[in-house]
Amino acid sequence: FPPERVRNFSIIAHVDHGKSTLADRLLELTGAIKKGGKEQYLDKLQVERERGITVKAQTASLVYRYKGEEYLLNLIDTPGHVDFSYEVSRSLAACQGALLLVDAAQGIQAQTLANFYLAFEQGLAIVPVLNKVDLPAAEPEKVAEQMHQVFDIPPEDCLMTSAKTGFGLDAILPAVIESVPPPPGNTAGPLRMLLFDAFHDEYRGVICMVEIIDGHLRKGDRVVASSTGDTYDILEVGIMTPEPASTGQLCTGQVGYVITGMKSTRSARVGDTWHLVKQPVEMLPGFKPTKSMVFAGIYPITGADFDALSAAMDRLILNDASVTVRRENSAALGAGFRCGFLGLLHMEVFHQRLEQEHGAMVITTSPTVPYSIEHTDGSHEEIQNPAQFPLGKKLSGVWEPTVAATVVTPSEHLGSIMELFQERRGEMLEHTVLSPARTLLRYTLPLAELGGNFYDSLKSITSGYASFDYDEGEMRKADLVRLDLLLNSETVDALARIVHRDKAQRIGGKMCEAMKEKMGRQQFEVIIQAAANNKIVARETLKAFRKNVLAKCYGGDVSRKRKLLEKQKEGKKRMRRVGSVDVPQDVFHALIKS
Ligand code: GTP
Repeated sequence: FPPERVRNFSIIAHVDHGKSTLADRLLELTGAIKKGGKEQYLDKLQVERERGITVKAQTASLVYRYKGEEYLLNLIDTPGHVDFSYEVSRSLAACQGALLLVDAAQGIQAQTLANFYLAFEQGLAIVPVLNKVDLPAAEPEKVAEQMHQVFDIPPEDCLMTSAKTGFGLDAILPAVIESVPPPPGNTAGPLRMLLFDAFHDEYRGVICMVEIIDGHLRKGDRVVASSTGDTYDILEVGIMTPEPASTGQLCTGQVGYVITGMKSTRSARVGDTWHLVKQPVEMLPGFKPTKSMVFAGIYPITGADFDALSAAMDRLILNDASVTVRRENSAALGAGFRCGFLGLLHMEVFHQRLEQEHGAMVITTSPTVPYSIEHTDGSHEEIQNPAQFPLGKKLSGVWEPTVAATVVTPSEHLGSIMELFQERRGEMLEHTVLSPARTLLRYTLPLAELGGNFYDSLKSITSGYASFDYDEGEMRKADLVRLDLLLNSETVDALARIVHRDKAQRIGGKMCEAMKEKMGRQQFEVIIQAAANNKIVARETLKAFRKNVLAKCYGGDVSRKRKLLEKQKEGKKRMRRVGSVDVPQDVFHALIKS
């Protein structure tokens, strides 16, 4: 297939607007999969279903006949959440066009906007599609009008489809061929290819998804990854149909997979440019190493499970190179790991996978964003753990990452949403009325404020009718302090947090109360305090209560006494010592969870 008969496109949509269903129908239409055959439906994790993240994207090459010519259409799937926005933008970089899919009953949602902007910034041709027109609640004319207002798309350009009944589907691929330009590469040039995704296959090792920007690639070629300088032999090359099918070569503009004997997806840098050895080319723009935006400690529920956890993590990160892992020790929780994630949802997905796929029971400490500490000499230091926040030292300031958030909501919830954002230290950027019933808001707010039940609050105040999405924002200076919990004047490392000064007292008070309640009475008096930058802001006292396990045993039943003593010793094993206080590990777990 010469480039003029190749089209590379993706589908961008809000969750549940029908992207997977439409992709399946397009595959059926071109014979890539059998009609009514096995749904491409991936076994989704609960968090994926709830939040609409597709963690691993699927790409497929379709052959389609149009006006007497055969075309090779590459449908490039993108991950479904902005935690992965860099991956989304890299997959979009492999495309020249995108189907902008919108549910004709729900209209434009937050993710529609965020994905549209990503595609628009890359200069992609947009093919607007209003799906689910079969629904009784569908209002395609109104949604077409919204598309005009928000994206400046003429209403008559919108295709009307139902991926369920099949209505209107015949018009989609012709529109892709007509509207999306062919890939612009240089067929004669030296090989330049974009790596836009990679996954680990149990039998075949790492499989990299690539687009040939210039030149061509053959089996047996020796290539270099620009970002690392590592060289690889191309052991196999082919296209996804959607199963990998070896073709022996890929030509300019084509999208496919390569197998190189690479050991871990960690070596496959998404967005990287590859070229032939001794034939260097200019790197494609936009490459950046992935950056962790959320850090948390991950600890086994009991110390003995550390090796099992370690093995489970190794297996999981084979397929998710965007997670960073370091060993970490906590006085309160024992041996564990400090992990970096792309965002909160990414963290939740990782946690659920550890538990569901690898049977590792773990506790995740409260997540932290990367703060930048500005010292008085003007130097900056990034900290990934609240326990690294310097105390007793004068600082020039503390900077925190922000996000640009988009919300689309039924207008009746506007007031409560604005309150929520205010409380979360948000600053409004935009307020647009989409229709009499729907409003679009854009805010800048600290990334850290998306934690602590933000999503649940948003859901409950809007009964689930608002959609939310965000994009990376700038670093911003804020009045932040380190909040510690102390037991008899000793800090509990795993519970340290960085919070806004105005909230320190309230959060500190709550932590002390929760600690008192969870700990129950102890053999000695325990003073529980919260300190903001070393200054006590809250206090509770736990009264002494001497527990004598032998008190109940009158007389001389020695064996019973021994049993009780042993039982008590066993209980002690799961204790963690903080200064002079023994705390059952469960208490820390309960506190982190609350
Ligand atoms: P994620 O994969 O979770 O991101 O969602 P998605 O956008 O891929 O949506 P999906 O294809 O899973 O469709 C969501 C729901 O809408 C499913 O229950 C589909 O059966 C249904 N659906 C998709 N297209 C149509 C349509 O044209 N009409 C109707 N009535 N339902 C549809």
